[in-house]
Amino acid sequence: MATIIQTKDGSNSIQSTQFEATYHSIHGAIQEAQTVFIDAALTHKASAQKELTILEIGLGTGLNAFMTYLEAKKSDLQIHYTGIEAYPISLEVAQALNYVELLDVAEEQTQFLKLHESPDEWVKLSPNFHFYKQIGRFEALEAQEQFDIIYYDAFAPSVQPELWEIELLEKMYQALKPNGVLTTYCAKGVFKRNLKQVGFTVEGIPGPIGKREMTRATK
Ligand SMILES: C[S@@+](CC[C@H](N)C(=O)[O-])C[C@H]1O[C@@H](n2cnc3c(N)ncnc32)[C@H](O)[C@@H]1O
Repeated sequence: MATIIQTKDGSNSIQSTQFEATYHSIHGAIQEAQTVFIDAALTHKASAQKELTILEIGLGTGLNAFMTYLEAKKSDLQIHYTGIEAYPISLEVAQALNYVELLDVAEEQTQFLKLHESPDEWVKLSPNFHFYKQIGRFEALEAQEQFDIIYYDAFAPSVQPELWEIELLEKMYQALKPNGVLTTYCAKGVFKRNLKQVGFTVEGIPGPIGKREMTRATK
């Protein structure tokens, strides 16, 4: 069961009864997505490279994918975006989310909903944005040097500790191309040590509102 909630910047998030956790920071879903994924990963990489492959761990509401779609259009990037999700939200829930309104792009509602309606195959949402909603579990991911960026947006280690273990981080390392980056809101010491152990160069950088620090790891 998913209940829509409002975070402090006015943007919606989802409270999951299955995981007893919210999909975003209660301090603001949009401001979190902007800082952790758009600024720290997408803009960071796009300064040197206009064509990028992105993997999102936990498509959820589609907010990170949608903000990436908008940024691709604005900055004329070529994005190939794979969002993995084991428990897709219903179209009814997606329709009730207020992202197009808060981002002031009401004309993009159809494209936002396409993130949720699209089949388990590649679709072209715009000349700048190719999208693949991969229904499945993160643990089953088998990818070798495919991605420039990983948005690591699993539920927190206190909720799903198994998704922050070193075995999964090794898979993420393998999935990234050389110089690829993984960003996440999590800045736990043990997580950062595990990232270093699998070979990443790890930076603690200022986090979104409500979080002093977040993590960017580079292969
Ligand atoms: C923190 S929420 C993601 C938020 C999402 N990025 C957004 O912007 O809405 C974590 C997501 O991971 C999904 N999830 C949890 N366990 C999973 C697993 N083992 N494999 C794939 N998806 C999983 C949940 O259903 C949820 O959508």
